[in-house]
Amino acid sequence: MVRDWTLLCALLGLSCSACAAGDPRRPNFVLFMVDDLGIGDLGCYGNDTLKTSNIDRLAKEGVRLTQHIASSPLCTPSRAGFLTGRYPIRSGMASQSKVGVYIISAASGGLPSQELTFARLAKEQGYSTALIGKWHLGLNCDRHDDLCHHPNRHGFGHFYGISMTNLRDCQPGHGSVFQHALTHVPYGALAAGVLSVALLHVWGVVRVSRRAVLAALGLVTLAVTLFLTFVATFRELNCFLMRNGEVVEQPYVSENLTRRMTAEALHFLDKNVDKPFLLFLSFLQVHTALFASPHFRGRSAHGLYGDAIMEVDWSVGEVLRALERLQLAEQTLVYLTSDQGPHLEEISVRGEVHHGSSGIYRAGKSTNWEGGIRVPGLLRWPGGFAGGRDISEPTSNMDLFPTVVQLAGATIPQDREIDGRDLMPLLRGDSERSEHEFLFHYCNAYLNAVRWAPRNGSAVWKVFFFTPIFYPENSSACFHTHACFCTPGYVTFHQPPLLFDLSRDPSESQPLTPDTEPAFHAVLQTVAEATERHRRGLVPVPDQLAPTHLLWKPWLQPCCSSWGQLCRCTRDSQQGELPLSH
Ligand SMILES: *[C@@H]1O[C@H](CO)[C@@H](O)[C@H](O)[C@H]1NC(C)=O
Ligand SMILES: *[C@@H]1O[C@H](CO)[C@@H](O)[C@H](O)[C@H]1NC(C)=O
Ligand SMILES: *[C@@H]1O[C@H](CO)[C@@H](O)[C@H](O)[C@H]1NC(C)=O
Ligand SMILES: *[C@@H]1O[C@H](CO)[C@@H](O)[C@H](O)[C@H]1NC(C)=O
Repeated sequence: MVRDWTLLCALLGLSCSACAAGDPRRPNFVLFMVDDLGIGDLGCYGNDTLKTSNIDRLAKEGVRLTQHIASSPLCTPSRAGFLTGRYPIRSGMASQSKVGVYIISAASGGLPSQELTFARLAKEQGYSTALIGKWHLGLNCDRHDDLCHHPNRHGFGHFYGISMTNLRDCQPGHGSVFQHALTHVPYGALAAGVLSVALLHVWGVVRVSRRAVLAALGLVTLAVTLFLTFVATFRELNCFLMRNGEVVEQPYVSENLTRRMTAEALHFLDKNVDKPFLLFLSFLQVHTALFASPHFRGRSAHGLYGDAIMEVDWSVGEVLRALERLQLAEQTLVYLTSDQGPHLEEISVRGEVHHGSSGIYRAGKSTNWEGGIRVPGLLRWPGGFAGGRDISEPTSNMDLFPTVVQLAGATIPQDREIDGRDLMPLLRGDSERSEHEFLFHYCNAYLNAVRWAPRNGSAVWKVFFFTPIFYPENSSACFHTHACFCTPGYVTFHQPPLLFDLSRDPSESQPLTPDTEPAFHAVLQTVAEATERHRRGLVPVPDQLAPTHLLWKPWLQPCCSSWGQLCRCTRDSQQGELPLSH
């Protein structure tokens, strides 16, 4: 079909890209992902104290998914699932150990090059593709500049953003007390070393093997100094901003970064007005450490967290207005989601709430309770399907893969398992039921729970094989470890598994028993069979989050100046001063 259009275009003497842009079946794509946003944070999902008018407009003009499920309750795996349409365990992006995300940019793990993202397939169909913002799927393999896991290698023709996630260490003033203290320690250590050597010399203590002792003391002092200087500097090394393969700001200053990213996004739209494009705008907000540009600080009723949400909402509004200004709104599919639920353990040292709301759902990020995986899902495409509707069928963020790939004119790869399902039949109203009869909820590489929405009924069964041990016990978070883990010692195993029916108990408040639910055993039986089929379809792959792939490897560390200058630079040509329209 695409070829026919190409031919037609050639006959009519039109440029093919312009023609493709006019093909109603090949929309542009603008995909927004907010980091750690809770489903209860948005007006269109019932929040009445946070102002998110632009996002709410998307919901009004588009379709609101009310059972939209992230492929994992953590950033790195959830984003891998989103981009590839596959459960993260299939790409090795689900950790077999405790840590489930990258915390160091100079680690060697990442999304393997043989994985196909929807961006890559769209690009092959002539789409202009860009990722602006957070990546968090690896960077280098063997050298500090091989960029083997970089977004440019995964189908994003343009990249402006960070390879990691927003970290506390990247915030001026949020760097821990520890970090500030350490900045001064090396000088203290150096002074103490020199002083001791001098005193020993004066007291004659070192008369016997003076040179050896002096040399040893000198070496110890040097080693301690180097080590502490390194530790103090190291945390900020993670914080760099890239434009394609080049580090343009290290450490990056986050304060106005959302404004700069928004300006970059508008620039991308302006440049591609005549070509089909795919823009993935992946916000650094509202992950901690929280930030908001001066214009938004103090504006919300929910502290800095609410301010950050208002800034995200502003940015979404700018992009939607640009689509209208460029007369692209009609033929652009817009999607907005969050990578997982709110990070409930994020309470500042001063006791401020630095996390979002799961609404009526239980717990949050790092758990497979609904609060961890049920995320906002808004889709708008005026030229493609009617808006103003809710779809409550189970859908997944992995569904964007087949949806985008097919709309872009590519075919779904046949050489691998794709777990996402095309959303168009549901969105167009051609189908009432989701194709996700079963969804598998992993905690890292461990199958944690299974969701079963039988095709002939209204129940949505959810079966838990284990649940996280909360601390304090009566909370719904893991304050002792700052996130819940999936490994023995941190979880309670359930035999028989816990069973809920989300259609009757969306908050997962009361597990069912054989006494309260006659279908108890039958449901567990069906789920066990589905699980067995799913397991048989898994092919072992290298764990991209194995400890050896998470460690800091000095030779992989990007450094935009010299090490002597502590890898600092500011050479971002486009400081993106975007006038605020309100
Ligand atoms: C952020 O933008 C504001 C307003 O334009 C400006 O006053 C401030 O200096 C900027 N901050 C940084 C860190 O550049
Ligand atoms: C709205 O969001 C704020 C910030 O996350 C939260 O504190 C509040 O509880 C939410 N309101 C509702 C009704 O969920
Ligand atoms: C759905 O179909 C299964 C068999 O395929 C049957 O056992 C079950 O009772 C049906 N449920 C409803 C609600 O009709
Ligand atoms: C929660 O448990 C702690 C002890 O673990 C107790 O001190 C506290 O009162 C409990 N809070 C509620 C609301 O039950």
